[in-house]
Amino acid sequence: MRMRTRSHLEERLEACSNLSLLKYDDSAKSYVQGHRLHIEIGCGKGNFITKTALINPDIRYIAIEKVSNVIVLAMEKAKNAELENLRFMRGNFEYLGETFPDKSVDRIYLNFSDPWPKKGYAKRRLTHGGFLEIYKRILKDSGEICFKTDNRELFDFSLESFPANGFSLSDVTYDLHNSGFEGNIMTEYEEKFSLQGTPICRLVARLAK
Ligand SMILES: C[S@@+](CC[C@H](N)C(=O)[O-])C[C@H]1O[C@@H](n2cnc3c(N)ncnc32)[C@H](O)[C@@H]1O
Repeated sequence: MRMRTRSHLEERLEACSNLSLLKYDDSAKSYVQGHRLHIEIGCGKGNFITKTALINPDIRYIAIEKVSNVIVLAMEKAKNAELENLRFMRGNFEYLGETFPDKSVDRIYLNFSDPWPKKGYAKRRLTHGGFLEIYKRILKDSGEICFKTDNRELFDFSLESFPANGFSLSDVTYDLHNSGFEGNIMTEYEEKFSLQGTPICRLVARLAK
């Protein structure tokens, strides 16, 4: 649904404010306390994270998204599903990530991250070394990053970037939907691209021992 006015958007965000975390502060800490924490960076309209949270009630989820018009839709889905284990942070991960404690995150989901194809914008890719340094700090030693994309160039870039920054790779596929992987939950972009016949790439990255 398109937002007609900014005030309408603010009203809708306000209606979901109990699902919102400003950053990783004391209220985030008590929300996560005693649970595994999985985060998604760039959750978009939230199909993936709401379905994932619904089937994993013992895990705490934080979904991060910088675009207000988009995150509000994800928050409304979580509100309608009465999810107790999903919270949202609105803003850029490059700033919000700094507020996460060391070794606090069990899994990071990067789903169909913006590819930033021009070389000059490579630093904005969520699998660029600058971001990988933040992930390295906030991930637990046993933590992992699950990355899916339709974009072959971004995937090939990431296949080099992760190992160059101290990660080892597993579960690498250029065609997820024909790979035998079970339990895949589709994102909005994944549904769109797979309907167009674009194969989906996936990998898992862990801190190398
Ligand atoms: C291409 S969309 C994919 C949305 C969703 N993950 C999916 O697969 O359908 C990428 C999303 O990531 C968000 N995003 C990109 N960079 C971000 C950042 N640095 N911090 C927070 N959100 C970001 C964008 O606003 C956009 O909604």
